[in-house]
Amino acid sequence: MCGIVGYAGHRQAADVVIEGLRRLEYRGYDSAGIAVVEDGKLRSAKRAGKLVNLVEALAEGAPLPGRVGVGHTRWATHGPPTDPNAHPHTDCNGHLAVVHNGIIENFAALRAEAAAAGHELASDTDTEVVAHLLEAEMAAADADGTQLARPGSLAEAMRRVCRRLEGAFTLVAVDIRDPGAVVGARRNSPLVIGCGEGENFLASDVAAFIAYTRRAVELGQDQVAEIRADGVTVTGFDGVPARVTGYRVDWDVSAAEKAGYEYFMLKEIAEQPRAIADTLLGRIGADGNLTLDEMRLPADELREIDKIVVVACGTAYHAGMIAKYAIEHWCRIPCEVELASEFRYRDPILTRSTLVIAISQSGETMDTLMAVRHAREQRSRVLAICNVNGSSIPRECDAVLYTRAGPEIAVASTKAFLTQLVGCYLVALYLAQLRGTKYGDEARDVVSQLAQMPNAVDVVLETMEPVRALARELASEGCVLFLGRHVGFPVALEGALKLKELAYMHAEGFAAGELKHGPIALIEGGLPVVVVVPSPGGREVLHDKIVSNIQEIRARGARVIVIAEEGDHEVKPYADTLIEVPHVPTLLQPLVTTVPLQVFACELATAKGHDVDQPRNLAKSVTVE
Ligand code: AGP
Repeated sequence: MCGIVGYAGHRQAADVVIEGLRRLEYRGYDSAGIAVVEDGKLRSAKRAGKLVNLVEALAEGAPLPGRVGVGHTRWATHGPPTDPNAHPHTDCNGHLAVVHNGIIENFAALRAEAAAAGHELASDTDTEVVAHLLEAEMAAADADGTQLARPGSLAEAMRRVCRRLEGAFTLVAVDIRDPGAVVGARRNSPLVIGCGEGENFLASDVAAFIAYTRRAVELGQDQVAEIRADGVTVTGFDGVPARVTGYRVDWDVSAAEKAGYEYFMLKEIAEQPRAIADTLLGRIGADGNLTLDEMRLPADELREIDKIVVVACGTAYHAGMIAKYAIEHWCRIPCEVELASEFRYRDPILTRSTLVIAISQSGETMDTLMAVRHAREQRSRVLAICNVNGSSIPRECDAVLYTRAGPEIAVASTKAFLTQLVGCYLVALYLAQLRGTKYGDEARDVVSQLAQMPNAVDVVLETMEPVRALARELASEGCVLFLGRHVGFPVALEGALKLKELAYMHAEGFAAGELKHGPIALIEGGLPVVVVVPSPGGREVLHDKIVSNIQEIRARGARVIVIAEEGDHEVKPYADTLIEVPHVPTLLQPLVTTVPLQVFACELATAKGHDVDQPRNLAKSVTVE
């Protein structure tokens, strides 16, 4: 996710854009930039790092006068956070500037086309290609001399370019040849129009402009908006005028930054379908084969791998535990999962044929970073699965697979966890395809079913009211246990961790098969126990055994809360509360069974009056060992 602001009106654009970027900085903060058009000149500035770096550069540098402008705070997906990779990106002649939020899937082919046509590309980003595509369209308009001076030429150029793009994108551009216009376009990424008096706005969300106007218009899919000081025009990518409806924003600024949610965590739970879709984008070919563009490990080296060790902490460690089941099943490679803080102290056996996978949302967790360094000292190959482009851990790894969850502001990890799972599945399936393991057909089926996961998570999110009611009912409990088998076991651990870190409540996850080896002594009348039940259509023996476990704890008075696949009639009679999730392949089930546990912990903590975004004693990134 990135923050985008466009302005056309009677104020100094630079002031409005910078203030708007401040409101959007939570959406992305690894670099920022601005471009302003005035008197036939395009003036711009951009800096890596937080917005304050840009503001300081503007204060020291030449002013950027003008009443039409665009700005951007970046959450890097392609190319590390550097000055050249910061947005806006300009064309070869400095006539136009464009900013972008999203992922352009076919950027490599377009980039090659632009370079072949003589365009000089200065960055590693997918966005810069758009600047040169717009340049070519504007030049074509120039060539026939008919459209250049005509207002609307930039909008027409944008429509033509958008018709060539694949993926998810919000684009906003300015051009000295159409000086009063700011033109925006969107497909699968947000863009909203703010309608003021003698001024209009384009932004990633309303937080950027509600200080000036509360009249807004949501731009629809595959639409282009042209704003000027005195008006707004909206068309489809085909140029046909579009009907739009306005609405009034009644949020305050703080609520607007959370898109109207009370907490970032609630917003991030809701963003999970989009985050999964973005993480998959451009990585599953039409033929079902995977292309992991940043996987810089050569295929022949990957074929030599004879052991995989996953290192991570906390929630990321739980993702690694799930990855183990997928890797060993699909790739037939032994896989160990290690707490990063324990890993290097146990003198692990690592060789050149060991692939170490470091999972980290922040890319800055010191325990995991030190584990990566230890692995490299042992000459093992190291792959990062990380959510922050250019952070320390991927920088020190041989290869990286970036999750694309966007900034995760809440301390409790939610969308990062689900996208870590997707990243692990992609790596496992990629290795399986590369090595041609015996489950090739199944791996291909799962690749196609992965694409259905955003919808599956959407379905779960729509049915969470009973979970919230249950959480409020249990808010005064002293302890909750979580049970699971197979990939449900790490999900049980994750559910317990969420409750600990948010509700400050004792919670513990167990492998259900371990119950009789001790934990069953904890069961007493009324004790809430959440049981993550595997699909009956998966491994029947697992399903039957966990149903037996449920009967064992019911016999001792437990209050049983079951998370099970819809239509699982066998388990229904034994559930005091039944939470149903859609049927998905066994190894993908954590994507749907985790969500009720996130919602449960968040609601219960809210009922206890806790700040779920910033729980006590915790930090978003643990940068000390
Ligand atoms: C999970 O909700 C916590 N925020 C914590 O366990 C986190 O997953 C852990 O600290 C690892 O962080 P990382 O993914 O940024 O490395």
